[in-house]
Amino acid sequence: MTRDAVLTIDHLDVVYETERPVHAVKDVSLTLAPGEILGLAGESGCGKTTLAYAITRLHKPPAKVASGSITFHDRDGSDIDLLGLSDERLRAVRWSKLSMVFQGAMNALNPVTTIRAQLDDALVEHRRGMPKKERRAIAEDALRRVGVDPARITAYPHELSGGMRQRVMIAMAMLLEPQVMIMDEPTTALDVVVQREILREIVRLRDELGFAVVFITHDLPLLLEISDRIAIMLRGEVVECATAARIQHEPQHPYTQRLLRSFPSLSGARGDFIRTGLGFEEVAS
Ligand SMILES: Nc1ncnc2c1ncn2[C@@H]1O[C@H](COP(=O)(O)OP(=O)(O)O)[C@@H](O)[C@H]1O
Ligand SMILES: [Mg+2]
Repeated sequence: MTRDAVLTIDHLDVVYETERPVHAVKDVSLTLAPGEILGLAGESGCGKTTLAYAITRLHKPPAKVASGSITFHDRDGSDIDLLGLSDERLRAVRWSKLSMVFQGAMNALNPVTTIRAQLDDALVEHRRGMPKKERRAIAEDALRRVGVDPARITAYPHELSGGMRQRVMIAMAMLLEPQVMIMDEPTTALDVVVQREILREIVRLRDELGFAVVFITHDLPLLLEISDRIAIMLRGEVVECATAARIQHEPQHPYTQRLLRSFPSLSGARGDFIRTGLGFEEVAS
């Protein structure tokens, strides 16, 4: 049986219960297919991060999910109500079924332990009884996948560049082979060459491992290159959701049209080098 969704967001509302309440996510419904890259675009403040936090259950007061549901459709056929999970069940689901990489995630690495210890912790917790030798091999493989020399596994975070640390966080997010990854501006803090390299890796790994990704950025041109479908968010609402080609060539909503026009590069020739693997020079020219 092929499933048509791995994640369903249904009529979700998130409100910041501040003195003047902010309705940051308004009646959002989205589905994510297995293995799909769903881009989420929209200008700063439109609610992208609020949505990402609700999906990963990282929201905390004053943020409150006022209504709606988020369901994870597990590979084994069971449905998991993400918003209703106990803390204990949430710990079991996070990283192993659904993982996340946020902007600045590289700063979430523990400064006083090695990369090896941090990857190993996740394996000890989620893969009970796995022999040490196997855990080592998996951790080294995870680094290799994201282009980090596995010899660096004994390094402390401060011994690595920002780009390398962010790659380690991506390796961590992929370590337990989750079915869904939520990536919120995962490469925004990095320089453009490193950013492109990492994105190319993510697309390649998706092809290899088959996880689905919700990829969030304000960078619409980038999303057009890597996404299967794109959802456009405006003031908390998803105003349009369609294939990347349709968003680019037949945008329906006036805001989508405006957003496209705000990126002059889109009207010029722009290589889809992430998918085709062309070199950076060819894109820059
Ligand atoms: N802790 C908070 N308290 C009150 N309002 C917040 C808080 N965090 C974010 N917001 C508001 O929620 C809206 C959506 O923010 P956010 O989800 O961060 O947008 P984006 O990620 O698209 O830039 C904005 O109006 C922002 O000011
Ligand atoms: Mg944000």
